[in-house]
Amino acid sequence: MPLPSSAPITVVGSLNMDLIASVQRLPSPGETVAALGITRRFGGKGANQALAASRHGATVSFIGCLGDDPDGRDYRNHLRREGINCSAVGSIRNQPTGSAIIAVDAAGENQIIVIPGANAQLSGPTVKMQRSRIAVSKALLLQLEVPLETVVDAITIANQTNVPVVLNPSPANASFPWGKVSIQHLIVNASEAKALFDLDPNQAKEALPVWRKKLASMKVGTLLITRGAEPTLILTATTFDQVPAIKVKPIDTVGAGDAFAGAYTCQIAEGASPQQATLWANAAGALATQKEGAQEGIPLRGDVQSLLQKKGHEVQ
Ligand code: RIB
Repeated sequence: MPLPSSAPITVVGSLNMDLIASVQRLPSPGETVAALGITRRFGGKGANQALAASRHGATVSFIGCLGDDPDGRDYRNHLRREGINCSAVGSIRNQPTGSAIIAVDAAGENQIIVIPGANAQLSGPTVKMQRSRIAVSKALLLQLEVPLETVVDAITIANQTNVPVVLNPSPANASFPWGKVSIQHLIVNASEAKALFDLDPNQAKEALPVWRKKLASMKVGTLLITRGAEPTLILTATTFDQVPAIKVKPIDTVGAGDAFAGAYTCQIAEGASPQQATLWANAAGALATQKEGAQEGIPLRGDVQSLLQKKGHEVQ
């Protein structure tokens, strides 16, 4: 296995305990379905992405909040075992650790309900106290499972200190102040892209000037649109690329997007191009679907490299 890159990355985000029910098929509104089994695992988009970056070789610092409860203590130990610096992870009194209720069907598709708990207590002042941590990072990685103002404060610090920002704006938040801060890399899936840009990603090639106008007004440098088994699209003001996905039969898609974001950010922090970073990230996302649970399937860099080499890519 290659030596870890050790590029320092800061992740600002959520930590959840996931309660995952496997079901034959997902329930429709108002319907009750019986689960085939239930498990409890570590999750949360922030922590999943942090873990993905760390397993890809980055040196990861996490800024977030846990409850001052047994789940919070278990989670902190788990982060430490994964080699993630959690000195900027707070323990919040009288708040439970965040949680998520997840259903996964036989095809690996999922539905998720998030209960923020302590994640909702991550404040702007807390993030501002971590300014120097962010300033020495090679990338700042964020999602939208913590308060929006806090996310914006963290991005502002990164903008002021010339640290590249990677934002995965999930779950979608219509109040995000697009254009007020600069986002160097924006990662969305096809439905998020459609909702955010009011454009069809499958027609992106035909409508590049419209996409580019929106990217400029939103102050987004590179837009990545993941599309499951279809190639990932990469749009900038001057380029348009399609990076093939690695086709696998998914067992559980929970956390696949997080595996993509973490691996992508690690590669960017090492100085890779968005195209090269996406190649690795697509493979990391594919491998993540091969095991149940958000974090269980997140691959080590060596496993991603082996898969890419097996598929004929020359990667080191
Ligand atoms: O992206 C998957 C994650 O979304 C789960 O781990 C769950 O906690 C929710 O945050």
